[in-house]
Amino acid sequence: MDPRLNERDAIADILAFHVEAGVDVALGDAPVDRFEESARERSMLRPRPQVAESRPAPSAPAPARPAHITSRAPTPAAPALPGDAPPPPDIAAIEAREAAASAPTLEALSELLQGFDGCPLKHTATRLVFADGNPRARLMLVGEAPGRDEDIEGKPFVGRSGKLLDRMLAAIGIDRTRAYIANVVPWRPPGNRTPTPQETAICLPFIRRQIELADPDILVCLGGPSAQTLLGITDGITKARGRWQEYNTGTRTIPALATFHPAYLLRSPLGKRMVWRDLMAIEAKLAEFGANPRP
Ligand code: URA
Repeated sequence: MDPRLNERDAIADILAFHVEAGVDVALGDAPVDRFEESARERSMLRPRPQVAESRPAPSAPAPARPAHITSRAPTPAAPALPGDAPPPPDIAAIEAREAAASAPTLEALSELLQGFDGCPLKHTATRLVFADGNPRARLMLVGEAPGRDEDIEGKPFVGRSGKLLDRMLAAIGIDRTRAYIANVVPWRPPGNRTPTPQETAICLPFIRRQIELADPDILVCLGGPSAQTLLGITDGITKARGRWQEYNTGTRTIPALATFHPAYLLRSPLGKRMVWRDLMAIEAKLAEFGANPRP
């Protein structure tokens, strides 16, 4: 038998293994030793006197592309370059706080995020997934992080779980003209893995500012990670869901509710019964404010 056939089968097997493991993005042709990279970064790390000084001037010449980064499909997000190595997470979180606080509008916040290099996820995602729906809606829903479809389209909740979310909202007469939708983390984690605590901490000031600027009357956290991050719940989502809590937007306190993530419902349809109750509670609460978007 032609040995190339065996080789082709072996390569197909390896590729299938990677896809099943969630590796669906090719970032380069050559392997990269991340341990060596971070050891080098640590050894080069100097105290940074001022956070703002750590960024290269906008006009600074772009560093040369390293050999290990080869071109991928054209994407709006810039690939990581050595000079762009994200700052350590604690510095990135400080930069994120300062940047987020400086955004006067949602548009400005979205632009700031486009230019923010502090979160490593930006460099593996295709694009920023900022928000969808109506920023003047009284209801804001926040998920965990974009998945593959969202990464491609640049909008939150457009894949299978998004379709289910749309059906859930339709059950209480809400569509995307009456809801504003975002995620705690606005870049897709590779292979849809859960964002790390550091990635979440870096993105947190941005979603907090996004909520403050959108100024909804009701906040709904979709899934445990969103509820833990925004509402500080320590119970599991099964226990915490369906209970009204308070969320401080920075300018006022609004009612907030955690419910199951639609992706969980796709795996565990029995949960829909409980989500139905949560939807009824959301509908009743919205009636207190008037379900129409603010003028
Ligand atoms: N899951 C999320 O948490 N957010 C999305 O946008 C899509 C899936």
